[in-house]
Amino acid sequence: MHKKIRKAVFPVAGMGTRFLPATKANPKEMLPVVDKPLIQYAAEEAVAAGIDVLVFVTGRNKRSIPDHFDKAYELETELEERGKEKMLEIVRNILPPNVTCVYIRQAEALGLGHAVGCARPVVGDEPFAVILADDLIDGEGGGSALRQMVDVYEEYGCSILGVEDVPEDETHKYGVVSPERVSDRLWDVKAIVEKPAPADAPSNMAVVGRYILTPRIFDLIENTGKGAGGEIQLTDAISDLLSEQRVLAQRFKGTRYDCGSKLGYLQATVEYALKHPDLADDFRGYLQNDVCKRLLG
Ligand code: UTP
Repeated sequence: MHKKIRKAVFPVAGMGTRFLPATKANPKEMLPVVDKPLIQYAAEEAVAAGIDVLVFVTGRNKRSIPDHFDKAYELETELEERGKEKMLEIVRNILPPNVTCVYIRQAEALGLGHAVGCARPVVGDEPFAVILADDLIDGEGGGSALRQMVDVYEEYGCSILGVEDVPEDETHKYGVVSPERVSDRLWDVKAIVEKPAPADAPSNMAVVGRYILTPRIFDLIENTGKGAGGEIQLTDAISDLLSEQRVLAQRFKGTRYDCGSKLGYLQATVEYALKHPDLADDFRGYLQNDVCKRLLG
């Protein structure tokens, strides 16, 4: 039996420069896709994977994240008085009652590796998950992509990276692995490089915002210097981990939207709106009758 994955780390202390000015006073993880902020989709994915401790690594302008997950007494009273039962139900059940939220501050945005390292006092000596909320994943059948990775962890008991194939000219945006096939959706990671130019990329298999890591990563992060972009990179610490422990790459079933980029965010918004129970019919009608006609002439 491997140690159960109980904790997920959400690094939310980035600058979000690609979304300025929307992210000037608000974290990008609070951008809504239809009617839910990105961070809530990520929290729900973790909870569906059996996780009950959510560790948020926050930075400047992140107060709205704890506010979102806290109880909102005034709002609840107001909704109750106005008889808005459905809305009351929604704001009361943002997270199940057994889930604990912990907030840690990353005083300076020194990079993703550094942000994950900040979670060490809460995570301790346990394997844990990392979710980057701006990679929104619509898991197959509406399920949790992280759940698929936890299932694989329960079998293999080692670190696992969520991956997908990206176009060759986009490898410079990701951590890219050198893979050796284990089975249909699993590979042994032989090497990993952060943001390689297409000519230097070992493959086009990129890590996309989902990790299960053993606690050994914390020691390695402490010894990781600045890497690509002058930041302390999680990829560099994982590269060191490879020389000591097995690391797998898993191609999860589902669709990922890069909501840290404007195009990916808009694509997610359209796809989620087309599935939204209260909105889908009207929105489809708008796309068909207005947008398509205008575009196709
Ligand atoms: P990104 O590379 O997307 O950077 O970070 P960013 O600052 O959020 O956004 P851009 O590129 O300026 O638009 C990947 C993840 O790591 C977190 C971010 O919040 C995001 O979830 N991060 C990054 C931190 O928590 N701390 C850091 O120092 C850097």
